[in-house]
Amino acid sequence: MRAVDIIMDKRLGKELSREAISFLINGYVVGNIPDYQVAAWAMAVCLNGMTPAETAALTETMLASGTRINLNGIEGPFVDKHSTGGVGDKTSLILAPLAAAIGVRDPMMAGRALGHTGGTLDKLDAIPGYRTQLTVAEFRTTLASTGFAITGQTKDIVPADRLLYALRDVTATVESVPLITASILSKKAAEGADALVLDVKYGSGAFMKDPLEGETLARSLVDTGAAMGKRIIVLLTDMNEPLGNMVGNFLEVEECLDCLEDFSKTPPDLAEVTLELAARMAVLGGKVANADDGRVLCAETLASGKPLSLFLKNVADQGGNVKQLCAMRGAYRSPFVASVRAAQDAYIARIDAWKTGHAAVILGVGRNRASDTVSPLAGVQLHKKGRDMVHKGDLLMTVWGKDEAALATAIPQLEAAIEYAPTPPAKRTLVLKELVHA
Ligand code: URA
Repeated sequence: MRAVDIIMDKRLGKELSREAISFLINGYVVGNIPDYQVAAWAMAVCLNGMTPAETAALTETMLASGTRINLNGIEGPFVDKHSTGGVGDKTSLILAPLAAAIGVRDPMMAGRALGHTGGTLDKLDAIPGYRTQLTVAEFRTTLASTGFAITGQTKDIVPADRLLYALRDVTATVESVPLITASILSKKAAEGADALVLDVKYGSGAFMKDPLEGETLARSLVDTGAAMGKRIIVLLTDMNEPLGNMVGNFLEVEECLDCLEDFSKTPPDLAEVTLELAARMAVLGGKVANADDGRVLCAETLASGKPLSLFLKNVADQGGNVKQLCAMRGAYRSPFVASVRAAQDAYIARIDAWKTGHAAVILGVGRNRASDTVSPLAGVQLHKKGRDMVHKGDLLMTVWGKDEAALATAIPQLEAAIEYAPTPPAKRTLVLKELVHA
């Protein structure tokens, strides 16, 4: 077999055999097939898609590229949550300790920033000392003691996704239903969760731009996941505007700490999506009979303060410095700072999520090349959001860049992200649909 023939077949829209897919992926992992051939293949997949059989073969090959974490000896239930990617989407950092606090263990394998979207691991890396590459033994110990553990793909655990994920990030090959399905489900199968809550985003700031595309991705995730024996609930949620008020690595950790400390002050969109997802984790974990009861249980648990203690315990478990983290709140910012102000008296129709996410990458929140490091300090604070009324000159955003040049390039893009309306815009429906395989 030759990689070039496999690329050609996919370029011509042919269905690839399981053998061809394993040859390519395994060859990539051991270093026999170079980045440029896999990038060409990924682009052909983006353009021509994959059949369900190919998607299943890709998912299973990626899973088999490394070790599966064995959770034997740790008491479940094990339920994880994963998002298909958004801007300001930080719910994982609230949900993992919240799930643990209601007695649902969350073995979370997360990702880095992808395209214009943020990554849980890059956010956690902003905490001094925090380790996002755990060994299997460390993952098990943390999960058993605190109720959740968060790690990335390593050279031992789904190494195929570790490599492909970084390659797709910088080759415009993220937006593909089969590639997203295989990337998410290979990680979810490796981490050992019995059940999954998936937040499939649609909208300008998502990889799937409209609800129908979002539903296609949701279906692919449910069907492929069900075939792998997982119980799954998918919520299809709106990502036309950043979630919450912070977009950036440390900024988002800080916003999560604020939410865990006093959930009543959480921005309403972030609070709603978080509670809806948490309620489904409670259902799949067998803690409640339905999502209504789940919402009540999760709101009460947040108010108890237990999820905040568990978050801080996890930081310590994973090598982070809790004292330093607390001292950094409100102070850990780039010196390269600017403001964006309202250009007119009007309502804000929305702050466009894609434009904000794209500007955030320029500011240093994400990567342009696989070798780039992200800035923990860069990002955007939104002072106003969709449906707010503003007057000309009002402060809309505070913006921090990795340097002056990044700031200068990003500011006009952020200004362009602000959409004004003369009359109050309609309220957005945040959760559009639910798909259940339980
Ligand atoms: N999240 C992942 O883990 N992988 C993708 O491809 C997209 C979102």
